[in-house]
Amino acid sequence: MSVAHPTINPPDKSINPRRSLSRAAIRDEDDRVKTSGQFIITGGKPLYGEIALAGAKNAVSKMMVASLLTDEPCVLENVPAIGDVAIIVELLERIGSGVAIAGPSARIHTPAIKNSRVLELSRRNRIPILAIGPLLARAGEAEVPILGGDKLGPRPVDLHLEALARLGAQIEITKTSYRARAKDGLHGARIALRFPSVGATENAMLAAVLAKGRTTITNAALEPELIDLIMMLQKMGAIIELAPPRTITIEGVKKLHGVTHRIIPDRNEAISFACLALGTNGKILVKGAVQEHLITFLNAVRRMGAVYEVTDDGIAFSRENTNGHASLKAIDIMTDSHPGFMTDWQQPLAAVLTQAEGTSTIHETIYEDRFAYAHDLNEMGAKMKISMDCPEGDACRFGSGKFYHSAKIEGPTELTAANCAVRDLRSGMVDIIAALMAKGVSVVDGVEEIDRGYEKIDERLRNLGAEIRRV
Ligand code: EPU
Repeated sequence: MSVAHPTINPPDKSINPRRSLSRAAIRDEDDRVKTSGQFIITGGKPLYGEIALAGAKNAVSKMMVASLLTDEPCVLENVPAIGDVAIIVELLERIGSGVAIAGPSARIHTPAIKNSRVLELSRRNRIPILAIGPLLARAGEAEVPILGGDKLGPRPVDLHLEALARLGAQIEITKTSYRARAKDGLHGARIALRFPSVGATENAMLAAVLAKGRTTITNAALEPELIDLIMMLQKMGAIIELAPPRTITIEGVKKLHGVTHRIIPDRNEAISFACLALGTNGKILVKGAVQEHLITFLNAVRRMGAVYEVTDDGIAFSRENTNGHASLKAIDIMTDSHPGFMTDWQQPLAAVLTQAEGTSTIHETIYEDRFAYAHDLNEMGAKMKISMDCPEGDACRFGSGKFYHSAKIEGPTELTAANCAVRDLRSGMVDIIAALMAKGVSVVDGVEEIDRGYEKIDERLRNLGAEIRRV
């Protein structure tokens, strides 16, 4: 399908319902997910081997919420053992779902909505707002806690709320929650998103599938995880069409059914492991990696002068070794909505670019504040400079604001061990990658953030030869 370049408007700085979260609030007590404070990492050696991808973090949580749309059981396969899943289990159980997780398989059954008002959760992510549509459809009212999630800038939810309002929801924002009613039920509507927000597109879809009539979402997000959600909804009985440019049309149906659905592999994990191979100058086969999900990243690998090999099992990544010299070239990256270069990929790639010859630039156009990790890289010896300016000739919606949204990295620089503090999920992964590249023993503090999105990362990296210990 051809996809138009997204339309983007300046971010609305007036809406910021996000509360700051303490580490304790997001700590995961679920024993499926190991959480403790620090990783001790001895780096400086190449990593080799195979690593299998877990199911996509950014698909599973939305699919768990989608199971609320039916009173029949839903089975999800390839469910990752991550903190974000545990948070949604708590949400669903408060609502009245029975959730049984056995290994990578989750069975969720919500015969009745026992409680449509969930005021508090012990930990938070940005997902509960997506439950408003399903709860309105089945119970006529909904109340969910204000969002948590990574600290990447203001992260407003204006587009979510506007889409729900167009579909007939009346929403009140209290100090701690979003409270919604749909007096006359939800109805189809035309929703023109000012930005192809992943969450707002998902929210509109989850509300529209059981609404009366036809909904059209234009300038919609089309990320692979969102397409996977569409496939699950379609199997449940929803009628959803995709059309260029970025249009999703939904014909509301009266009832949805149970489903068994296998979640796509996590493309963000894939990129993290690819960057580990390139950063440490090793070779890693990322099992389950899907070429179609990684097209822009693979082009970046080629431009750096590195190597990838697509096989039936997955994709193997390494540096090209010419006459014993495995060098990388500096490149320029601009993040964008899918199918552009994904924002979650720039952080792991930055660690690799510290080893590339020349000056690389990263232009972040999705989040205002996604370079906090530069501090840790520079502590290790990188030369990474962040700036409020757009790179020349590449103006973006953050250009006139006061946002540190671009970076230059001079390379190559030798990395040496340092003490790092995890700031958010992906920057935590940069800390791990850089620590594995750096000579000496690094300490990465606050690893529960990493556990929120990467399944048993320490155990899996040890299988590649990494010296990483959880204390
Ligand atoms: N935005 C608005 N208004 C809204 C919603 C979004 O202005 O109502 C803005 C945001 O402030 C941001 C941009 O739109 O500047 C992108 O936000 P989007 O809604 O697309 O992202 P999201 O749904 O909050 C998901 C992933 C992110 C990933 C982005 C972009 C999940 C749980 N999270 O976030 O993943 O970076 O899409 O692809 O699916 C991660 O996995 O670490 C992560 C942050």
